[in-house]
Amino acid sequence: MYSEKVMECFMNPQNVGEIENADGVGTVGNPKCGDIMKIYLQIEDNIIRDAKFKTFGCGAAIATSAMLTKMIKGKSIEEAMGITNKAVAEALDGLPPVKMHCSCLAEEALKAALWNYAEKNGITIEGLTPPVNHHEEDHTGTAEEN
Ligand code: FES
Repeated sequence: MYSEKVMECFMNPQNVGEIENADGVGTVGNPKCGDIMKIYLQIEDNIIRDAKFKTFGCGAAIATSAMLTKMIKGKSIEEAMGITNKAVAEALDGLPPVKMHCSCLAEEALKAALWNYAEKNGITIEGLTPPVNHHEEDHTGTAEEN
């Protein structure tokens, strides 16, 4: 069901943990499937120097958060903004269709962390909108998929 890359990221995830005094922290989750993702960012001179995550959830959610944090390290905020859940899924050699929604959690957590960073620093990030927890809708009926 899962690609080798997904399994690798799930069994041996990189960037797990938290960053003390992170410049941006974002949490998204869904009480229905119980998955929660938290992303920590260290940002310096507009560049994401470090990224870590904690994910309480399914294997696809863990794999996508590991891959996402790997992808955004060393990228500018603008470049990171361009990383979609689809790009993360592609970097994992795809996700089963019923698990695509799990990759949305990674994109949303990143955006929530960037929003937190922007708020703390009184800046505006182009194209960034306040985090809304629309995962509640996205995840409707996912219990049986777990
Ligand atoms: Fe994978 Fe909800 S994020 S089941």
